[in-house]
Amino acid sequence: MNLIVAADNRWGIGRDGGLLASIPTDMKYFKDHTTGKVVVMGRKTLESMPNKRGLPNRINYVLTTNPDYEAERCNVVNSEEELWEELSKYDPDEVFLIGGAALYNKFYRMCDKLYVTKMDADLDADTFIVNFDDDPDYEVVSESEPVTENGITFRFVVYEKK
Ligand SMILES: NC(=O)c1ccc[n+]([C@@H]2O[C@H](COP(=O)([O-])OP(=O)(O)OC[C@H]3O[C@@H](n4cnc5c(N)ncnc54)[C@H](OP(=O)(O)O)[C@@H]3O)[C@@H](O)[C@H]2O)c1
Repeated sequence: MNLIVAADNRWGIGRDGGLLASIPTDMKYFKDHTTGKVVVMGRKTLESMPNKRGLPNRINYVLTTNPDYEAERCNVVNSEEELWEELSKYDPDEVFLIGGAALYNKFYRMCDKLYVTKMDADLDADTFIVNFDDDPDYEVVSESEPVTENGITFRFVVYEKK
């Protein structure tokens, strides 16, 4: 499994249930990496998306404790066990964990590659993930040149499990 996230310089990823910034080049990076793949998200992340629908052209899995939960374009799973059973159908390289903080923090150690858009700003987040730089099991394998868009400078950083 892989993970993809955009984080600010305090490893903040969200505020008021939504994203911290809108960066078209990052949206494209996310789309390029996940289109045609399997994406896994928590119920709150799904509900932050337009029309609370799964993403088009991807196989969407949503984790919730609500057994009656339904959402367009989504496969709903109610436990970690059920999620791993479902994901065992796919090549792990084709699976992307796409948030939010609850899922990133719980499952990032199960991911081989972490695609992190590092935004060089403090964007007043209220939702945070762990600092991947502090995890000795991961190393940075690539880092793009900085790009500035909508007033935010960011880099695409890829970590791999050692
Ligand atoms: N910057 C980024 O790249 C990025 C990406 C994604 C999301 N985000 C942001 O992250 C924030 C949302 O993150 P969050 O941590 O609040 O929520 P979340 O991780 O999206 O969803 C949490 C929900 O997932 C379900 N869940 C978690 N573990 C479960 C388990 N073991 N079994 C069953 N269900 C489980 C629960 O749903 P129920 O309550 O229904 O049981 C829980 O409330 C938003 O601000 C969003 O915009 C940022």
